[in-house]
Amino acid sequence: MTRQTNTNPAFAAAGAEYSDFEIPVIDQSQDSMERARPIPRISIQAFCEQNHMAGVVQDASEDRRLSKAHVSVHMGGAVAAVQHYQESPTPNLIIVESALPRQQLLPELDRLAECCDPGTKVVVIGHVNDVILYRELLKRGVSEYLVAPVTAPQLMESLSNLYNDPESDPVGHVYAFIGAKGGVGSSTICHNAAWTLSEALKSNVIVADLDLAFGTTGLDFNQDPVQGIADALATPPVVLDRDYDITPDGCDMVIDVARQNVPYVVIDLPHGWSAWTKRVLLQADEVVITAAPDLANLRNAKNIVELLKQSRRNDNLPHLVINMANVPKRPEIALKEFEEALGLKALAVIDFDPETFGQASNNGQMIEELSNRAKAAPMFRDIAMTLAHRRETKAEKKPAFASLLEKLKLKR
Ligand SMILES: Nc1ncnc2c1ncn2[C@@H]1O[C@H](COP(=O)(O)OP(=O)(O)OP(=O)(O)O)[C@@H](O)[C@H]1O
Ligand SMILES: [Mg+2]
Repeated sequence: MTRQTNTNPAFAAAGAEYSDFEIPVIDQSQDSMERARPIPRISIQAFCEQNHMAGVVQDASEDRRLSKAHVSVHMGGAVAAVQHYQESPTPNLIIVESALPRQQLLPELDRLAECCDPGTKVVVIGHVNDVILYRELLKRGVSEYLVAPVTAPQLMESLSNLYNDPESDPVGHVYAFIGAKGGVGSSTICHNAAWTLSEALKSNVIVADLDLAFGTTGLDFNQDPVQGIADALATPPVVLDRDYDITPDGCDMVIDVARQNVPYVVIDLPHGWSAWTKRVLLQADEVVITAAPDLANLRNAKNIVELLKQSRRNDNLPHLVINMANVPKRPEIALKEFEEALGLKALAVIDFDPETFGQASNNGQMIEELSNRAKAAPMFRDIAMTLAHRRETKAEKKPAFASLLEKLKLKR
């Protein structure tokens, strides 16, 4: 395969190399959804030709990953873009949709290049899978050429690849843990899952205990940190008063710094509802709701799930952990009913086990540290592996025919 270098970029190109042979095949939306990372505080202007594409850009602009970006959507495609930028300065990124064939699109884009400020990136969404066009666009410094139909997650993935290097940038995954009610064990689940993540994957994990007043992270991990998260949140320009009032922007800042430094950021949210807890839930990559199997928990969990469904249309549903199940003699909502009411399958059901949990808590140990034979230990592994999108780290099972072959060899 020959590779050629982009020598004469009219636009600020992201990738300088391209292949002669194929336009990259866009992955399925589900994968894009998981790979699309937050996009920095940039201005994006889109010039669409079709209402459908305008809708997709609009959808992406409302997504959590673009919450910092400023997006505006116009109609009229490449022609309107050229007209517009003859009079106005260009933003950080222009998205141009065009169904024009190669012979007409290229001259239009050349005209656009003439009025583009240096540093402006251009993404073109076309309707033809044309390798020569793709090659010509990259030669002109176009950052990306996508072939319609494009979904919002696919668009977000492409845009985020222009600003984050998936190979080198450590852009951590953020998990928010919240209890459907106070005291249901959300922090316990959060800390154990975080510990297992770091142990099993030999990875750095930051646990951000946002229960500033009553958090137990220090106790649970038997740690006495000199500086807590309150200190980080108190750093200017965040305004934090003595009552531990956190601002949503302050939270964003701390989470951003954390996710730039480690692959996994685990946030322990206190039970209770405020502007910033909501912001963290809506901004996290994934949410874990811990609930006990009773009616109040079900109602609250349902409210949280509904909010997340509405505001996070391009994300997976939250994870559900049922904790403190099977308390002797206590009437409980059956697992199946609980799951059906929420439209979620529980990731784990952890029994009420005051002896184990109480002892772990008193020792400042995680459940698996206390005893890897505890019934809940493998469940925390499951939770951690699911959150990391990994399979269990058990030794791989050999396929059935491999052991047969071994036996045959022995016989010979
Ligand atoms: N499955 C369990 N069985 C018995 N005890 C448990 C279980 N899970 C957690 N606990 C205990 O319940 C208590 C409350 O747990 P935890 O602090 O994790 O709850 P929380 O939901 O974070 O509470 P808060 O609303 O205060 O944030 C702790 O003492 C913990 O050890
Ligand atoms: Mg807690």
